Amino acid sequence: MANLKTVFVTGGTGYIGSHCIIDLLNEGYEVITIDNLTNSRSGALRRVQEITGKSVTFYECDLLDGRAVHAIFAKHKIDYVIHFAAMKAVGESMQFPLIYYKNNVIGTINLIEAMKANSVYQMVFSSSCTVYGDPEHLPITEDHPTGAVTNVYGRTKYLIEEMLKDLSHAEEKWNIIALRYFNPVGAHPSGRLGEDPTKNFTNLMPYIGQVAIGKKPSLTIFGCDYDTPDGTGVRDYIHVMDLASGHVSALSKLDEEHLRFKPLNLGLGHGLSVLEFIKEFERVSKVHIPYEYSGRRVGDVATLVCDGTRGVKELKWKPTRDFQVMCEDFWRWQTMNPDGYANDEPFPATSLDEILPLSEKTTAASPAKVTAAGPAKAVPAFNSVNSINGVNGVNNH
Ligand SMILES: NC(=O)c1ccc[n+]([C@@H]2O[C@H](COP(=O)([O-])OP(=O)(O)OC[C@H]3O[C@@H](n4cnc5c(N)ncnc54)[C@H](O)[C@@H]3O)[C@@H](O)[C@H]2O)c1
Repeated sequence: MANLKTVFVTGGTGYIGSHCIIDLLNEGYEVITIDNLTNSRSGALRRVQEITGKSVTFYECDLLDGRAVHAIFAKHKIDYVIHFAAMKAVGESMQFPLIYYKNNVIGTINLIEAMKANSVYQMVFSSSCTVYGDPEHLPITEDHPTGAVTNVYGRTKYLIEEMLKDLSHAEEKWNIIALRYFNPVGAHPSGRLGEDPTKNFTNLMPYIGQVAIGKKPSLTIFGCDYDTPDGTGVRDYIHVMDLASGHVSALSKLDEEHLRFKPLNLGLGHGLSVLEFIKEFERVSKVHIPYEYSGRRVGDVATLVCDGTRGVKELKWKPTRDFQVMCEDFWRWQTMNPDGYANDEPFPATSLDEILPLSEKTTAASPAKVTAAGPAKAVPAFNSVNSINGVNGVNNH
């Protein structure tokens, strides 16, 4: 099916981005994606192309490099943006708040500026149920107050939502859907694409997968005294391919209606405790998962379950995969790829040198990558945002 519209996807080599690109290509969209590869490997895109038989244009580009982002927008005719790129580890965000604010918030500002400069006003933003904080009522509707967030990562999502809301109030042209994901799990049914198990992850399913294949001795459950039926935390899980199709539906919604800014929950509306999760995973994988209890983690809440009816209605979309399918697809991916994409050839990136104006190529250095793993090397500031701290704010850690 030829669609002929072009989607600019940030964070497209990451877990959710790579799955979403499959659906976008299958629906006939052209895809231009960027990623700085701080939490992913480009080999995922090779597999996306194998699965779909379609091609993707990839730039290894950091959103903090505003010049490069502008140059990509100037080079391609872009119709929509899906903005996945962000750092997302909650614990790490509490240790390195400046890195998280800089990467997530300033990266988004650079993106918005490039969009505006090129008259692109349609965006789907990856938000999170974490913006609701400790719920005042369950299930959580989109009208539930946001902002009482318990961690820095969540605050970056909240701040970005507020910024997008302000922008859409000030400038009528903006048309933005913020999708508040509950807990994405699972993998593509081919077993070729999933959440890279070699990454430094903190999510439950990849952790259980590592225990199941013997790479970790046991699962640590944080908190067994919550006010839930079995004392462990209850979450609402959604299959990553259902999430992916939700994004494609969101693009259609942007075409149909000028919303300015609209948040929508994406989840199944069913809660599952950690112990129920383990039981179902053991049933599907036929592998015993040893676990031990530890204290509650700061910032964790007892139960997060959404009311997803508004998303279903507005997007004319329906999640179709239940928790058994989430476990089956994940387990297929995990057993077929115990090392994830670690041994894959990198995907060929389109050179930024070809599109950056000559003057900028010779005078500006590339930005230091923002990683929490270690301080990036100092580089000359290349735009006003990056000169906030003289060189690069991440070096202060
Ligand atoms: N996975 C979840 O549980 C979950 C839940 C709610 C919301 N989200 C949000 O969904 C989005 C995608 O999450 P994911 O699970 O695919 O994470 P991911 O880490 O697999 O993907 C994010 C990608 O963004 C890239 N990236 C980060 N900073 C960048 C920058 N400055 N410039 C360019 N690329 C950059 C990373 O290298 C990575 O490939 C994120 O915004 C995340 O906050 C995820």
